[in-house]
Amino acid sequence: MQAVKVGLLGLGTVGGGTATVLLRNAEEIQRRLGRAIEITHVAGLGIASQTIFDPAKVKLTEDAAEVVNDPEVQIVVELIGGYILARELVLTAIANGKHVVTANKALIATHGTEIIRAANEKGVTVAYEAAVAGGIPIIKALREGLAGNQIQWIAGIINGTGNFILTEMRDKGRAFDEVLLEAQKKGYAEADPTFDVEGIDAAHKLTILAAIAFGIELQFEKCYTEGISKITTVDVEYARELGYVIKHLGITRKTDAGIELRVHPTLIPRKRLIANVDGVMNAVLVQGDAVGPTLYYGAGAGAEPTASAVVADIIDTVRLIDAPAVYKVPALGFQPSALSVAPILPVELVKTAYYLRIDAEDKPGVLAEVSEIFADHEISIEAVLQKEPEEDEAVVHLVLLIQRVLEQNVNIAIAEVQALTSVMGEVVRIRVEHLGK
Ligand code: HSE
Repeated sequence: MQAVKVGLLGLGTVGGGTATVLLRNAEEIQRRLGRAIEITHVAGLGIASQTIFDPAKVKLTEDAAEVVNDPEVQIVVELIGGYILARELVLTAIANGKHVVTANKALIATHGTEIIRAANEKGVTVAYEAAVAGGIPIIKALREGLAGNQIQWIAGIINGTGNFILTEMRDKGRAFDEVLLEAQKKGYAEADPTFDVEGIDAAHKLTILAAIAFGIELQFEKCYTEGISKITTVDVEYARELGYVIKHLGITRKTDAGIELRVHPTLIPRKRLIANVDGVMNAVLVQGDAVGPTLYYGAGAGAEPTASAVVADIIDTVRLIDAPAVYKVPALGFQPSALSVAPILPVELVKTAYYLRIDAEDKPGVLAEVSEIFADHEISIEAVLQKEPEEDEAVVHLVLLIQRVLEQNVNIAIAEVQALTSVMGEVVRIRVEHLGK
């Protein structure tokens, strides 16, 4: 059988990793596929100085358009990132009848509907395993391995940089900026690192997970997004004393009212396996109605872990390269005509538990005042932690764990607490998930 010809867009961290893995494991891949995969055309900035490819055998260019318009190329692998050029190139590749493999979560989360529609019309594949949780084959697990289930909810640590920062801050007391710099040097962080620390990257990934879990459209703009930049060591320590760990989670859940889609720091019980996922590692916990909870763990970022997913997509695409669409897994795992219109719930309509830290004057009656407000709103307090203040401090930290309640109700109670003259500054609020059934 003839080799399948691949064009590569981008020779950065993931592009370089993909080239390395494809070349190093070429023999093993051929044993799996019964045919070879050959990279024939590569586009990248500063390509003249690359040392991976033999320029006598592989066409090298700085102009990505040449690759997507190359009649010889059958699969275009888009690893340049970003939305604008990547969208243009991917749509051109599809229009030219080429299959597309991409690691670009921003592209799929924001332009996925348009891209998938174009691919379906043209009868080509768009594969994006590497877009979510790096090397973990979570797209394959959801679309195929768990296809017999109704997915109930997903909770994932899906940004390696954020998890790396939280872990280093907690374990080594390192400064936020210093750890972020290290993540950038190691190639984990996005080109714009605010995407990592403000939760945007995780929201891109969660949008994709929700679409394939529940068979809904990709709706990134409706994802509630909160990052880790306001997490302090004070709250990390109180969480620990209460038996919890603070993780940045992407959570999506199907409820009778609609779909929850939210990314935010979350207290989770330390005894959960996912609470022990540290460093750049990612983990995705999926609850299916038949299987129960399943947990997927692995490296969420980095050259070769991400390449592992890209190469698996190339192999899958090659296997069915000439097969009619009916034999292929639909891009979102569900038939395009059967997508659900279940609404995405605004965060105010999400029900969850909360950790609250209230900074208050050290005087009698404050705890009673605060408790009364929650009682008035029929919100039950499940735990209270208050330490004696240091000798020279006039402020006490009042830490509460409160029961699952609608966010809009807790907002009202928090506003009333903040209005108390004995309360100083803003109440710190971190959502709590027990991740049981
Ligand atoms: N910046 C991303 C992360 C890279 O840190 O997880 C992988 O998508």
